[in-house]
Parts: sequence; C-alpha cells; structure tokens
Amino acid sequence: MADYLPVNSNSLRSDTTIGCDLYLRIKTKFENRYVLYCKDDIVFGDNKKGMLCEKNISRLFIKKDDQQKYYEYLENNFQEIITDVRIPPSQRTKIVHSAATNLVKDLFNDPRAGNIERTKTFAYNMVDYILQEGRAARSLLNIAIHEYYTYTHSVNVAAVGTLFAKELGFKNEDLKHFCSGILLHDIGKTRISTDILNKKGKLTKEEYEKIKKHPETGVEILKETGNGFTDEYLITLQHHENYDGTGYPHGLGKDEIHHTGKIARIIDVYDALTTTRSYAQAKRPFAALVEMKEKMINCFDKELFVEFIRFSGPYDQRAKQRKNNKVH
Ligand SMILES: [Fe+2]
Repeated sequence: MADYLPVNSNSLRSDTTIGCDLYLRIKTKFENRYVLYCKDDIVFGDNKKGMLCEKNISRLFIKKDDQQKYYEYLENNFQEIITDVRIPPSQRTKIVHSAATNLVKDLFNDPRAGNIERTKTFAYNMVDYILQEGRAARSLLNIAIHEYYTYTHSVNVAAVGTLFAKELGFKNEDLKHFCSGILLHDIGKTRISTDILNKKGKLTKEEYEKIKKHPETGVEILKETGNGFTDEYLITLQHHENYDGTGYPHGLGKDEIHHTGKIARIIDVYDALTTTRSYAQAKRPFAALVEMKEKMINCFDKELFVEFIRFSGPYDQRAKQRKNNKVH
C-alpha cells in the first residue's frame, strides 16, 4: 500500500491545479482509508475548498511519491500563500520552512544553475515574508530540527540570519542578497564525500583539509552559473573566517572580513551548536551562547556577538518557558 503524507489544506489555493491527487482520510474502526478528493489535473475550486472549511477539515493527504509535485506547487504559489491572511501565521511559517528545506535538499542533490536560481528567487520571497510578518516570523526560529543535514542547517541559518540582519537594520535589497547568500553558503559541501561530512569520529588531517576547501569550491560553483552573485560570494567564501585570523580558507581577520561574513560566522556556529550533528548532541540556545562566549569569543566580532545575544534573548526565554512547562 502506498504511503500517504498530510498536507495543510490552507496551503491549497482556490482555482489552482495542484498537480497531484488529493485524498481525504476516512478513519474506520479497523483501518485508515484514503478516498480521492481532487484529481491532479482538476482545478481545486471554491466548492472543494468551501466543503473542507464547512467540515472543519484542515488536512488532506497526498501519495508519498507525489511529494515533489506538491512542493513544486508550493514554490510556484509561494507569494500568494505567504500573503494569505486567512492562513494562521504558525501554519504559514511551517509552509515556508518545509518548502525551503525541500528546495535546499534539491539544491544539494543537484547544484546546477537552475536550482541555484530557484534558491535565489525563494530567498527573495522568504525575505518578503519576514518583512511582512515582522515579529511573527520569529516563529521560524522555533521549528525544531532534530537531525543534522546540510540542507536543514542552511535553512535554519538563513532563517536566523535574515531575522538577525533585519534587526541590525538591513534594508530590503541587502536583506534579499543576504538571505540568498546564506541559503547557498555551504553549497561547496556538495563536492565533499558524505563519508567525510557525516563521519562520527575525529577527522584526519587530510579529511579536514578537504572540508576547508568548501567555501572556495562554493564560490566556484556560483561562478559556474554565470550569475551576478557578488554578495552571495562573500558569505559563501567568508563564513568560516574568524575575527582573530584563525579561520579558513584565507585566515582573514578583523575588518578584512566583510560585515555579512562576520554575521554568517556567528549564525553558522550558533546553528551548528544548537543542532544534533553526527558527532555531537544539540545544546540549548542559552548553553550554545555561553559556549560561544567562553570558548570562541575571539572568532567573532564582539559588538556583533553582543547584538546577537540581545537578539536571541527573548527566543531563549521562550525556549526556557517551554522547557519549564514540560517539567511541571
Ligand atoms: Fe560551512
């Protein structure tokens, strides 16, 4: 039997063709039955949408094999979905995050020009969403990611980084380039073997040397596409440069590192520490900030780091609150 996946019915716009079959789940005493609700090439009209609202049905189902088609639909209708005020902000945030994760997954599986251009377009839309939603977009930070993959990392770093850059006063165009640069920042890892990327033990010197090449390889990949990615190059190239000059690939220090590279360095470390990786457990946000301050402070521009602590504050309070609620 084919596997089915739930999709949020709010993500389906009236009078569009979804491109994959939609099913209703009927629960009986003995089994779940999936009944075809709208065929892939039939327009999902107001009547179909209205019926779901009437019956208070918030989820439809698609076949697992059709997942890619559904994500394509989300991406093509992204602007309309994220500006639809009838969809609750928390659901819009989930749609943004899952569409972004799927996109970056495609990008890392096949980093060709088309997918790079798609990422750029998506980043611009994601910034529109963040600018439009204001503080509500901070719920992007609350989406828990338990496994470490390069692509979920890239989405998290882009979400946290863009919200932080907005707080620092970045304006529309700069924010768009920044978000797109951050989504692409680890693209050079696509040319490193996954055996090295996912290795549990300590890396050998040779393996580490290969890892250290990914910022430059990333720039090469971006240049191969022939796009004008000036800001994106800088973030990709400099996100492992340390303020004290101990980073890679060029050992740049202080103001040799571009402002966006300094921000990317902070966010990259923060996300790595707060996410479970193949070789380390995730830390709570507060513990991650303490570790960054105590063990790595020389890697960061101190003023920016203080700003980042300020920025993370309310989020960490909320995270603690959630933890306390669980305990009691
Ligand atoms: Fe990296």
